[in-house]
Amino acid sequence: MITAPPRFAAHLARTADQVEAMLAHLLDDAPQPGEALRPPRLLAAMRHAVLGGGKRLRPFLMIEAARLFGVEGDRVVRASTAVELVHCYSLVHDDLPQMDDDDLRRGRPTVHRAFDEATAILAGDALLTLAFDVAADPATHADPAVRAELVLRLARASGLGGMVGGQMLDLAAEGRWTADRRPAALGDAEIRRLQAMKTGALLRLPLEAGALLAGAATSDVARLGRFGAVVGLAFQIADDLLDVEASAEAMGKATGKDAARGKGTLVALHGVSAMKAELDRLVAAASAELAVYGTRAETLIAAARFIAERKS
Ligand code: IPE
Ligand code: IPE
Ligand code: MG
Ligand code: MG
Ligand code: MG
Repeated sequence: MITAPPRFAAHLARTADQVEAMLAHLLDDAPQPGEALRPPRLLAAMRHAVLGGGKRLRPFLMIEAARLFGVEGDRVVRASTAVELVHCYSLVHDDLPQMDDDDLRRGRPTVHRAFDEATAILAGDALLTLAFDVAADPATHADPAVRAELVLRLARASGLGGMVGGQMLDLAAEGRWTADRRPAALGDAEIRRLQAMKTGALLRLPLEAGALLAGAATSDVARLGRFGAVVGLAFQIADDLLDVEASAEAMGKATGKDAARGKGTLVALHGVSAMKAELDRLVAAASAELAVYGTRAETLIAAARFIAERKS
């Protein structure tokens, strides 16, 4: 496996700082036009969920997809926070006792642990709505048609046929709603579909959205979408491998829980070494998809490698 260059890590870290600053600005104490008050406990829980951690991979992918088509700057960084806000909300709810029941996230107590369950549910709700506020705001993109397209794609990636739908399939696979409570014996194709929804949708979206924000041709948006689908699958396989092989210290979240819960993963179905080989294959497929752009696509290809090889 070819290793992602060290300068990639530095570039990702610089971008993460820009995204962090924009997120901090969006979660400022001061009420925004149209808001009467930002309730302090709710805002504190939202800040706990969003700030001070996270790789910011989804914003990075959006920013780099826009850059591939010649657009960069504050507006793209702003747009990229919409997908990170949905992602952070999904983590808050994923960690709730009624879902994966986790106490640690990004090396800190989960939101329901640091606050309480009701506050965590509401913080998730408010992060989701803030994401759509950002996507629809004229400050994000000058063209209302582009903003509407961003909102539509974000909604589809996040909801019933995307992340939320995938989370439902993920929990159903544990056997929660069957009489014998046994984990479902999902096949390869069913697991890939579940993962394409639960995780893939929110990795594919920023790649398509970055191209859209930059005014790329429909065929380029579709190509970035195909790249994103492969990267999304690789992302969840890596997450599932890390659940088996990595420590909680390295990950900042509990590991070794998927097998115990009977989660439907390709790692459980095919084993660790088969899925490491699959990751190599996916990185090659992702790189091939962007070959038409030549060296301009270097950073996105390095991102695909990083996502597959990451250690946290
Ligand atoms: C973790 O996502 C949750 C999954 C979708 C598997 P990340 O690994 O991107 O988490 P952060 O944002 O860096 O904490
Ligand atoms: C969660 O997948 C995907 C989401 C939509 C949040 P996991 O349940 O595997 O994520 P982690 O391992 O808790 O981060
Ligand atoms: Mg989960
Ligand atoms: Mg989880
Ligand atoms: Mg996981």
